[in-house]
Amino acid sequence: MIKTFGCQMNVYDSERMGELLGGEGYTPTDNADEADLVILNTCHIREKAAEKVYSEVGRLRQSANARKAQGNETLIAVAGCVAQAEGPEIMRRAPAVNMVFGPQTYHRLPEMLASARKAQEHGQTARVLDTDFPAEAKFDQLPKKRGSSGPAAFVTAQEGCDKFCTFCVVPYTRGAETSRPVAAIEDEVRSLVESGVVEISLLGQNVNAYHGVDASGQDVSLAGLVRRLAKIDGLERIRYTTSHPRDMTDELIAAHGEIEKLMPYLHLPVQAGSDRILAAMNRKHTAESYLKIMERLKAARPDLALSGDFIVGFPGETEEDFQATLDLVKAVRYAQAYSFKYSPRPGTPAADMEAQVPEDEKSDRLARLQALLNQHQLEFNQASVGKTVPVLFERKGKHAGQLVGRSPWMQAVHVLAPDHAIGDLVNCTLLSAGANSLEGGLADRLAAA
Ligand code: SAH
Ligand code: SF4
Ligand code: F3S
Repeated sequence: MIKTFGCQMNVYDSERMGELLGGEGYTPTDNADEADLVILNTCHIREKAAEKVYSEVGRLRQSANARKAQGNETLIAVAGCVAQAEGPEIMRRAPAVNMVFGPQTYHRLPEMLASARKAQEHGQTARVLDTDFPAEAKFDQLPKKRGSSGPAAFVTAQEGCDKFCTFCVVPYTRGAETSRPVAAIEDEVRSLVESGVVEISLLGQNVNAYHGVDASGQDVSLAGLVRRLAKIDGLERIRYTTSHPRDMTDELIAAHGEIEKLMPYLHLPVQAGSDRILAAMNRKHTAESYLKIMERLKAARPDLALSGDFIVGFPGETEEDFQATLDLVKAVRYAQAYSFKYSPRPGTPAADMEAQVPEDEKSDRLARLQALLNQHQLEFNQASVGKTVPVLFERKGKHAGQLVGRSPWMQAVHVLAPDHAIGDLVNCTLLSAGANSLEGGLADRLAAA
């Protein structure tokens, strides 16, 4: 059993670990009581995310004990960003954990498992800690990715970050910025398309900083990579996430107007609207330079839907600074957004800054920001009602006979449609809208199963 927390990169890593474990004879399960191995793939971005891991380990220890009473051994592993950041502390604080390994070492899982199982056979408690940033490239060591469970798949293009925003743990947990070579990504996308994938999201903590090498040793930008992938027959949609405003190049902005398969949706986090706070965050852009980028993107692709991330209550944030964030939000009108209370992370510069904002102030600002963001999100969805748009059906919905898919603008659309339409791109008419999803109806007749 692999349980995943955090960002899409962790979702992707969990899939790769799953494939690796398949080769080791493991089969997936959702039930901890029947799992010989449980991997928690963890996130360290905010405090709550890390605390979840320890409570999860507590629960797992109970089911491991119950299994032991019946003569079954269980291995508990903590992987991902909490493992990277707090490896030795996890070993100390949670003796039930057998293995701790970071996001850059999971290709060594077979060796780790072999030594853990060997210890168990000798009646010892297995304990393995592996949180290096190894010299060998992880992706070269992993077996080739074979397929995907749905029609939309993630593909890691870039990993790590050199930007060191003062609030953020990612440069410490994921390490320095690296890009996978073009050919490796092309191969992976091709084999995904052969297995039925029609949409890919290129992933990276700073994916628009991508600069992988091609076969001739030339550096290729993200725009160049997207252009190459767009040539793959059968691949219909390309997205990428997450981007930094500083890497939003002219070439990439232009690509949004030129490459039809590149979907009209962009997640471009800004974090705050006050230049003073942006400087303290080490973002190296201003509110105005961000708005300029947004304008140029809209000029290149007028129907582009925008999404962002926000942090409220960064140290030193005043009510006036916060108002600047609201002003920026009003200027952009995001179709979707993620907003968080600032959470001090040990080891990051902002955690030691003076003028930490009180918790109730943070909560109050977050509520006000979210009310505005939700209103815009609802308005964006309502403006789509009546349109007929292509929806890629990804999975069954909660209600019988219903499928859920995505519009080009990342909107979740619920439609009454037969199961065999999963994986199809189908024109649907949008009938009604909420802040988080829309209801639609089939505009085309579907082929029979
Ligand atoms: N690389 C991406 C962000 C990755 S982290 C970027 O630069 O935009 C995802 C989001 O988590 C960030 O955009 C930020 O809004 C939020 N986040 C990161 N660290 C945080 C912290 N210490 N407290 C609260 N939110 C945080
Ligand atoms: Fe974190 Fe900033 Fe890097 Fe994004 S750009 S991962 S927020 S340090
Ligand atoms: Fe969390 Fe690590 Fe992703 S800290 S957001 S899982 S890069």
